[in-house]
Amino acid sequence: MTTTVSRPGAKRAAIAARTLRTDRWWLAPLITFAGLSAWVLYATVRVFMHKWYYVPDYHYLTPFYSPCLTDRCIEGSAEFGTPLPSFWLIPEAAFTLPFLLLFRLTCYYYRKAYYRAFWLSPPACAVPDAHAKYTGETRFPLVFQNLHRYAFYAATIISVINTWDAIRSFGTGFGLGNVILSANVVMLWAYTLSCHSCRHIAGGRLKHFSKHPVRYRFWTFVSKLNARHMLLAWVTLGTLALTDFYVMALAAGWWPDLRFIS
Ligand code: FES
Repeated sequence: MTTTVSRPGAKRAAIAARTLRTDRWWLAPLITFAGLSAWVLYATVRVFMHKWYYVPDYHYLTPFYSPCLTDRCIEGSAEFGTPLPSFWLIPEAAFTLPFLLLFRLTCYYYRKAYYRAFWLSPPACAVPDAHAKYTGETRFPLVFQNLHRYAFYAATIISVINTWDAIRSFGTGFGLGNVILSANVVMLWAYTLSCHSCRHIAGGRLKHFSKHPVRYRFWTFVSKLNARHMLLAWVTLGTLALTDFYVMALAAGWWPDLRFIS
């Protein structure tokens, strides 16, 4: 095997071609672009729809409207009061959505995804950056990526709220909606706990794992989830959209809930 050692100060080879890659390197960023764009479009439409977010009979509340905080919240959907006015630009979950957005935007995986798919910076390995300059994440605005740890704390609290929504829905029997809400919450926890910041909080800076057996076990658990972080990032986009769509369909009367125990 030949190893190439680059000397300090050595210039890159002058290659005229934009890239020497001949495989379909553009496919992954294209799929990412399409997937994320579709999801953001769906979520934006739903958040500003202001209807079909709650099923009173079964206490099903979509995560896009949790917690419901405006004074137009349907009776029974507002568990934490209604301190916000019902202006159409204010989402029902106006206190939590910005933190969830920050959590996903600053996520290590999503950064890779949208740097490649949206900013083309760079679009793939061994493919040049579409921008002339690269200033990294040490300056405005990308320096704010470092807020990720704090977004993680907020997302953890929001996951607790989503968990409560799922538990509350069991008060009136058991249906397919309960299964969907609960599966979504399990996946949200898996994604949240698989966060790189969570892993660092759990086991970072520990010099002796043997002296911290509980943190070590938690860190081991989180590390296993962390290896699937990209998968969980996508799965949770799917479960969030599916849960929201199912609640919307019931609330709009498109079909009834499949009840196992009434
Ligand atoms: Fe993705 Fe923290 S790194 S959620």
